[in-house]
Amino acid sequence: MNRVAVVTGGTRGIGEAISLKLQEKGRHVIANYGGNDAAAKAFSERTGIAVQKWDVGDHKSCIDACAAIEAQYGQIDIMVNNAGITRDATMMKMTFEQWDEVIRVDLTGCFNMAKAVFAGMRERKWGRIVNIGSVNGQGGQIGQVNYAAAKSGIHGFTKSLAAEGARYGVTANAIAPGYIGTEMLSTIPENVMEKIIAQIPVGRLGQPEEIARGVEFLTSDNAGFITGSTLSINGGQHMY
Ligand code: CAA
Repeated sequence: MNRVAVVTGGTRGIGEAISLKLQEKGRHVIANYGGNDAAAKAFSERTGIAVQKWDVGDHKSCIDACAAIEAQYGQIDIMVNNAGITRDATMMKMTFEQWDEVIRVDLTGCFNMAKAVFAGMRERKWGRIVNIGSVNGQGGQIGQVNYAAAKSGIHGFTKSLAAEGARYGVTANAIAPGYIGTEMLSTIPENVMEKIIAQIPVGRLGQPEEIARGVEFLTSDNAGFITGSTLSINGGQHMY
């Protein structure tokens, strides 16, 4: 079945790999993006995947965008909440704005998008929601009280949503990536990066495709018994 999938932050980094993987598996993909028009245009030209710009942190924009997608494509079956930002600073230096921006985009963005699609999924008795958390939401990280709080929040959000959706055929799962080789790592000082890689038993950064494989698995048609779970893909950096 040609199910319709929306991937937030779906034109770059991990999101790009997720969009491509779902397209490869026959999903009809719409990739959301937040700001980088040139990257989104290039991505769309390269892949043929439709791109749409809105701010996942803005509630009304999410509701309106999903309504427009449903009007055009019939429904949204798969929602991948991947959009995320970092504004790293130690607690001593972090501003309220840095805290607020990350919570708004990374955590409230998941609520906004799930809110926009959950009723329809429930009604049709089929849906797959995957939220991208982080190893740093599980274990904490220097310089990330904002990001770790948002990502940790995603894990609780996912479990509660899973409990609510289960009897309606709507699954909700999280993936907790470790350090993946994307532009998001570009702000990490080189000496700190060395310390981080030393903490990864596999001895390297992950690849975006290694996260996309997890999303493919959790959104499969026959993954209906997997819900409320967190799939850690982190090279063994954090285990429990
Ligand atoms: N692990 C170990 N040590 C760390 C560390 C880390 N993750 N982050 C900082 N430190 C250490 C530094 O090496 C430094 O130690 P020394 O004083 O012994 O040299 C000390 O803490 C202070 O750090 P800085 O000198 O770098 O202080 P700063 O104020 O200039 O910068 C910072 C602080 C912004 C937190 C910067 O260190 C940094 O960017 N750290 C990386 C934070 C991080 O891991 N972000 C993850 C981004 S990727 C992501 O979020 C995706 C995901 O889901 C995994």
